[in-house]
Amino acid sequence: MKLFLTRKLPCEVCDAVPADVSLAMYEHEEQAIPREELLARVAGARGIVTMLTERIDEEVMDAAGPSLAVISTMSVGYEHIDRSAANTRGIVVCHTPDVLTETTADLVFALLLATARQVPQAERALRNGQWGTWQPFQFLGIDVYGKTIGLLGMGGIAQAVARRARGFGMRILYWSRTPKPDVEEALGVSYSDLTTLLQTSDFVVPLLPGGDATRHLIDQHALSHMKRSAMLINASRGSVVDEDALCAALHAKTIAGAGLDVLAQEPIAANHPLLREARAVLLPHIGSATLETRTRMARRALENAVLVMRGEAPFDRV
Ligand code: GLV
Ligand code: GLV
Repeated sequence: MKLFLTRKLPCEVCDAVPADVSLAMYEHEEQAIPREELLARVAGARGIVTMLTERIDEEVMDAAGPSLAVISTMSVGYEHIDRSAANTRGIVVCHTPDVLTETTADLVFALLLATARQVPQAERALRNGQWGTWQPFQFLGIDVYGKTIGLLGMGGIAQAVARRARGFGMRILYWSRTPKPDVEEALGVSYSDLTTLLQTSDFVVPLLPGGDATRHLIDQHALSHMKRSAMLINASRGSVVDEDALCAALHAKTIAGAGLDVLAQEPIAANHPLLREARAVLLPHIGSATLETRTRMARRALENAVLVMRGEAPFDRV
């Protein structure tokens, strides 16, 4: 039973794969597998373990051939996998939810604090020798405690962010297609319609899956509802935000800042206009990036694949 891994993972993780599975992998950790090589090397695989950097579409499924039973991604998001094509072929799709929830919520809060307090800007200035003297009105941020946070979506990561926001004494609003009264009760969060949330939040935080249903939810119109003092914090999917509209809003100072861990196009282009916005804090998609959590995700992605390959139920079928 051949299992193809589209990126090199640490030996500790791969060694756990049982002996009846023959593991083949792209040998590099620091670069994504070229498309041609992916198509050639999946041939005959019963399972594919992949990640956000690979587009797994019909062409890849056909290249693997009729033996392919499972596509397992080391990520919670799965919009890089053509699920309807997988369905048609009876291929199971798995992902890694839950194991990254708290870690990602930590990063959302780190990004929120960093953006609110201009932490990266201040650090860059220090390194550039610009700490001439302590100044009473330099690097002024905005307070986080006591402010209003507006969460778009109320899944696991949003709930974990809400728990952190409570510790900061924040008022917590959320908008979601399906209101969750039990969560409102448990976490002290209030449902709001989208416009009111945008108009009243100091921090607008999308925590939604990618894909067509959420594409450009934060567009020029949505941004125009936000307060001039408000900030957008996005560690969900870049596709949720219309980046042209965001650049325009930052440039015109109709919002106060943006912290982004995800972008429409990753990695960011060298000439991306966001790189010129002083009030944008930009991270290279590190939401789940701790040793503990990335190791858990890698293990889980392999376990899910092996279970399906053996005809058993995986932990996390999409
Ligand atoms: C990261 O963005 C993931 O989907 O796991
Ligand atoms: C700041 O460090 C202060 O003493 O106010």
